[in-house]
Amino acid sequence: MAKLIINEENRLSTIEPEVYGHFSEHLGRCIYEGIYVGEDSDIPNVNGMRTDVVEALKELKVPVLRWPGGCFADEYHWKDGIGPKENRKKMINTHWGGVVEDNSFGTHEYMELCRQLGCKTYINGNLGSGTVQEMSEWVEYMTFKGVSPMADLRRKNGQEEPWTIDYFGVGNENWGCGGNMTPEHYGNEYRRYQTYVRNYDEDKPIEKVCCGANVSDYYWTEGVLETAFAHTEEKFHGFMDHLSLHYYVHPEGWDIKGSATDFDEEVWYKTLYKALYMDELVRRHGGIMDKYDPDKKIGMCVDEWGAWYTNEPGTNPGFLYQQNTVRDALIAGITLNIFNKHCDRVKIAALAQVVNVLQAVILTEGAQMIKTPTYHVMHMYRHHQGADLLESAITGVEEIGMGEWKVPKVTESVSLGEDGLITITLNNLSIESGEKIEIGLAGSGYQVAEAKVVTNADMHARNTFELPEEVTEAEFSDYVVSEGGIIVNMPKNSVLELRLKK
Ligand code: AHR
Repeated sequence: MAKLIINEENRLSTIEPEVYGHFSEHLGRCIYEGIYVGEDSDIPNVNGMRTDVVEALKELKVPVLRWPGGCFADEYHWKDGIGPKENRKKMINTHWGGVVEDNSFGTHEYMELCRQLGCKTYINGNLGSGTVQEMSEWVEYMTFKGVSPMADLRRKNGQEEPWTIDYFGVGNENWGCGGNMTPEHYGNEYRRYQTYVRNYDEDKPIEKVCCGANVSDYYWTEGVLETAFAHTEEKFHGFMDHLSLHYYVHPEGWDIKGSATDFDEEVWYKTLYKALYMDELVRRHGGIMDKYDPDKKIGMCVDEWGAWYTNEPGTNPGFLYQQNTVRDALIAGITLNIFNKHCDRVKIAALAQVVNVLQAVILTEGAQMIKTPTYHVMHMYRHHQGADLLESAITGVEEIGMGEWKVPKVTESVSLGEDGLITITLNNLSIESGEKIEIGLAGSGYQVAEAKVVTNADMHARNTFELPEEVTEAEFSDYVVSEGGIIVNMPKNSVLELRLKK
């Protein structure tokens, strides 16, 4: 039996709500169809945003939404997406699927979406193919209050008051689709571009995100920090607030990727093994960051993470549409526990992507919408948002797996919310057996206020438009509370949330 020991007297760092963020790109059916259907659509909408999707996302308490890309961001010219829609440029989305991009969703629509969701804004600027002037003018357009050419243009387009940009990405994947730069080259470009991302409102400073590494490219992290950060006088005055990291789980590697729904037991463990690799990535990139920023003033921003499989048969490969099974619920649970444990460094994250793309929380088909297993995990884990990580450790955990793909049977994280409730999230990675876990706390007298589980005995189980509730958040009652603590019987293939109160 595994034993989870919690010291609720020892609060560690705060888990920033933004760690539970999402990513929306002009890619496939994410923005168009998935979120934005236009005001004239038969699908119920408010100002063009589909009501079912917005309502479902509000239940997740989405803290921040990144837009417009991704690789799309470094080809996006924001002036194409403002003004009367009939005058907006139509073009080919060369990066994703070769479809027509009519720019009907632009800056004003994104800000309206964030208003409806009640979330923070995270705009990713174009450093790869845009100019410093273009980036600078976009920021002026969105945030300048006084009289200026861009602020006047915004007002002419119907928005009197400036908006708030909470986070601004100075380029995306500039080691790849964002310009194929070397770390030194990008580091210098970062210095230059970020200079003109002006803070027009001292009370609402924009937090700048510098482009960080792909997976284990530690050379990039070192080179960018050395060039862009190490010798900068102004470094702790809004020069660089965050450094990104991108990591996708491809069960069979980048070229083959692997099916989202058709996999065997070995691939199950291989996939979860790869999800657990996030821990090493955060530690090692974090180690380099510690060298330059020992006080941890720069947040790590894992603004693209999740599973990336081969697209669903019969769909446009450039749309990256994939199904989502109980395996994805485990990937989400494992990854979010890792982020929680590293909340002293990981300050923002964005699951890729929010609707209809990669490890989406929502899938749509015409007017229909379903929530994926990943949605239900994100929903349970929302209680960690803004809570304090508690010291916890698990002992007696068996190593399981197949072949070289060995994983711990259980992972965990624990936090204390402002409401005084302790949230425990546990993952049972085994497809063979359940696990009895004894939970011990420093204090006594705890009661279970809420217990939920996302599971299905079939590792391939998923939600479809015909059967939308195969993997969902269910009440969990297989636990016993005693003076000494709580004993839970976790089913196999499961993600569990327990909330404790005195
Ligand atoms: O999420 C899909 C793509 O993956 C993004 O556009 C890009 O940043 C990354 O390579």
